[in-house]
Amino acid sequence: MEIAVRTGELLHAESDLAVLATFEDASLPAEVERLLEPSDYCGRANQTLLLYPLGALAPRRLLLVGLGKPEKATAETIRLASATAVKEAQRLQVEAITIGVHGDLPLAPEAAAQAFAEGMELGAYRYWRYRTGLTDEQTFVVKAAGVFTKTDERTGAGVARGQIVGRGVTYARDLVNGPGYAMHPPELGEEAVRLGKRVNLKVTVLEMSQLIEQGFGGILAVGKGSEHEPRFIVMEYGEAKKGTPTVCLVGKGLTFDSGGLSLKPPEAMEAMKSDMGGAAAVFGAMQVAAELKLPLHLVGLVSAAENMPSSNAYRPGDVVKSLSGKTIEVINTDAEGRIILSDALFYAQRYKPDAIVELSTLTGAVIIALGSHATGMMGTDQALMDRLRKAGEASGERVWQLPLWDEYHRMVKSEIADLKNIGGRPAGSITAGAFLAAFVGEVPFVHLDIAGTAWVDQPAKAYHSHGGTGVGVRLLAEFLKETN
Ligand code: BES
Ligand code: ZN
Ligand code: ZN
Repeated sequence: MEIAVRTGELLHAESDLAVLATFEDASLPAEVERLLEPSDYCGRANQTLLLYPLGALAPRRLLLVGLGKPEKATAETIRLASATAVKEAQRLQVEAITIGVHGDLPLAPEAAAQAFAEGMELGAYRYWRYRTGLTDEQTFVVKAAGVFTKTDERTGAGVARGQIVGRGVTYARDLVNGPGYAMHPPELGEEAVRLGKRVNLKVTVLEMSQLIEQGFGGILAVGKGSEHEPRFIVMEYGEAKKGTPTVCLVGKGLTFDSGGLSLKPPEAMEAMKSDMGGAAAVFGAMQVAAELKLPLHLVGLVSAAENMPSSNAYRPGDVVKSLSGKTIEVINTDAEGRIILSDALFYAQRYKPDAIVELSTLTGAVIIALGSHATGMMGTDQALMDRLRKAGEASGERVWQLPLWDEYHRMVKSEIADLKNIGGRPAGSITAGAFLAAFVGEVPFVHLDIAGTAWVDQPAKAYHSHGGTGVGVRLLAEFLKETN
């Protein structure tokens, strides 16, 4: 989609659909007011009207989108409004839209423009690669959009940034939405190589023999039960330089999680092609960082495996020696994410990073705690977590902190090994975080449990649709933009 910044009068813009985003209780332009009963429009938000602008040759279609109360307006309000507008344009099969806000936004023009563009990219997304017999309405693509906003010299930059971020999210959604058979660990490795070629990253994919030689015991154990070999993926943007921060992003890349021998019940297994949501977020964020040319050294690490039951599969009771040398007693083969991540987190140390941010669809328990409205956050460095919380507010991908007190670390100590891979049902998300923290040493570390936010069955937000949400990309884009 082409997105441009426009100035002038929204209602006279030459596009097929004008979208007016209005605050609750705001008075509307007279031309619109004439078509409505006074104060009628709030109840009619998200409805299209035929408008006859003075001096215009033909009637215009006008969509009113509600923005809620002005004091509650944020970038997220704009994102949702513009996603609604694009969805409506698709339904009406309108090729070009213009959107503007009626009233004053409490936001910098650049941030508002970014949110407009993100909402459009995200709202237009549909994953219909495997659907046949689609109707014209379903396949319709909105070609052009104009954003009416108070401009300053950075408004155009805001739109450009929003498009880059939006495309990064779309990329992550596509990766998650693909069926498990279409994306085994080796294919995820090939995808990393393609991404590297596209945006100029240095990419290395460690194969089976290298994993064995170098001692990636966690990834090897989890991947053993599958006929599709595991991989460890390293993507590097920029380079280590004095004065340039180094950030490691780590992602869980379970291309499918059946639970292994501790097999999941069918309802819990259904969506487990999405267990590489953390990896997808890292891929998306690497793409965004490169396209935005952020002044950073960014390293993306992905542990990729398929967790399957078979006579080769790792068993409950096995002891795994991870890359760090620490030993892990396997109690439940379904708590596999933390095992493959232990290798990646230890590997990250070699870059002497300023921060490690790890994302994983790690525990069902975080869905019980926070639902789909926030990502669970744990970590070893409060300043780093505060920065992520802020980035969460700004990007609309909220994170909420859970504690990592010593008591929780004790819950994952094993009788026969250094650690055990589950700490019981209580505080399930936190003990998983405590397990991970054992592998990061002194480096400031944040773990983001995206199990509740990476996938939606029934979307509650205008910019979501059934399936992967690409969560993490907007959050990381915002966090990395503020890292310097
Ligand atoms: N991939 C799952 C976590 C998950 C659950 C992600 C639901 C998305 C939606 C993870 O590997 C897992 O199975 N965790 C277990 C851990 C338990 C065995 C301690 C869980 O949460 O049930
Ligand atoms: Zn699992
Ligand atoms: Zn899993």
